[in-house]
Amino acid sequence: MTRTVAVLMGGWSPEREVSLVSGRACAEGLREGGHRVVEYDVKRDLRALVEFLRPAAGGGPDVVFNALHGRYGEDGCVQGVLEIMAVPYTHSGVLASAIAMDKPMARHVFTSLGLRVASGKVIERRALAAGDPMPRPYVVKPLDQGSSVGVHIVREGDNLAAVELAEAAFGERVLIEQFVPGRELTVAVMGDHAVAVTELRPRTRFYDYEAKYTDGITEHLVPAPVPAEIYDLAKEWALTAHQALGCNGLSRTDLRWDESQPGTSGLVVLELNTQPGMTPLSLAPEQAKWAGISWPDLMTWMVDHARHPS
Ligand SMILES: Nc1ncnc2c1ncn2[C@@H]1O[C@H](COP(=O)(O)OP(=O)(O)O)[C@@H](O)[C@H]1O
Ligand SMILES: [Mg+2]
Repeated sequence: MTRTVAVLMGGWSPEREVSLVSGRACAEGLREGGHRVVEYDVKRDLRALVEFLRPAAGGGPDVVFNALHGRYGEDGCVQGVLEIMAVPYTHSGVLASAIAMDKPMARHVFTSLGLRVASGKVIERRALAAGDPMPRPYVVKPLDQGSSVGVHIVREGDNLAAVELAEAAFGERVLIEQFVPGRELTVAVMGDHAVAVTELRPRTRFYDYEAKYTDGITEHLVPAPVPAEIYDLAKEWALTAHQALGCNGLSRTDLRWDESQPGTSGLVVLELNTQPGMTPLSLAPEQAKWAGISWPDLMTWMVDHARHPS
């Protein structure tokens, strides 16, 4: 059966450009997979979106492929619109999206499940002006951004006032986490299955926006060359987090592993992404490919596993 799939992309978050790249690539993969595809660049015009999804003249897409990132697209807001309009959509629903987008809230859920997180706390951004909230090195991040937008590592000698100023764009409160040295890992989950563990080796100082989206700056090693107990635990935690948050379809969980700590005690979960990057070169699709799932097949799998509002 040929379905009409509407790819929602763009939006107006700081991750707009990333979303447009994801969206176009997904649209292409969906067409290759035999779907009828309509691309839609989401603007802050709810009336237009509603008319697009359910035209007054009748019809409209059978399913939405959500390729949005960041606020409104990844945090449960657009999911709420799709629920109300009873349009099936890919990825997670309202609650899972909202929790995953809110890093402090997600940390509460992870710790309640027995997953380790970096020691951390939420503070008033202005408190940074009074000095270090914990011993350096530590990480300052916005409560609800992605793509490393607004993430700062504060090391010895760094200017804290500059960090405080840079965070001003993201609200009054920030999340502070102890810096976890060592290795960067990520795990994609598809349905009830953790696919693989990838190790990321950025050639810059940390895995920032540039390292994420500039070709060749970051090396992806899949399967990650880490001990079996770390590999298995990373997969187990990603699946546990996905299920506990009530995620749907595909998600991707980011972790760090401090290999100087004994056994698995250096493994921590950083966050779960309900709308991970979706170009053929992105991390989750790369793991799917490693598992034998082609780009068009992955697109079809996602549409087949769309969430159906009741
Ligand atoms: N506590 C931490 N210790 C070390 N590195 C961190 C820590 N928190 C974040 N980072 C680095 O910053 C990157 C982005 O942080 P993350 O929490 O995944 O937010 P997002 O990807 O949503 O911007 C991580 O991939 C990691 O490289
Ligand atoms: Mg991340």
